[in-house]
Amino acid sequence: MKLFVLNGNEVKVADDHPHLLSALREELGVTSPKDGCAPSGQCGCCTVLLDGKAVVSCQVPLSRAEGKHVVTLEGVAEDERRPSPSGALSSAGSASRASCCGPRA
Ligand code: FES
Repeated sequence: MKLFVLNGNEVKVADDHPHLLSALREELGVTSPKDGCAPSGQCGCCTVLLDGKAVVSCQVPLSRAEGKHVVTLEGVAEDERRPSPSGALSSAGSASRASCCGPRA
């Protein structure tokens, strides 16, 4: 089992996920990070904050997330979700990432 803090709550996930994105979506049911190209790490649809730094979660092995704080869109206050240059997750976005629009529910 791997332990980390997700949106302020300690969570445990199985060791066998290929990356953080898989653990978030498949085990924890967190669907705001999308799988647009995993595991290539090119589209940015799976961006989360890992200890305050934007990362593409399909490129993060669980061992790297262990003991750290992960924030997804679900953990961002409503008033901080609006797209803006100062938005919480915008630091990860390039123009191509911002245009990613193939969400899988
Ligand atoms: S799913 Fe595209 S960068 Fe992670």
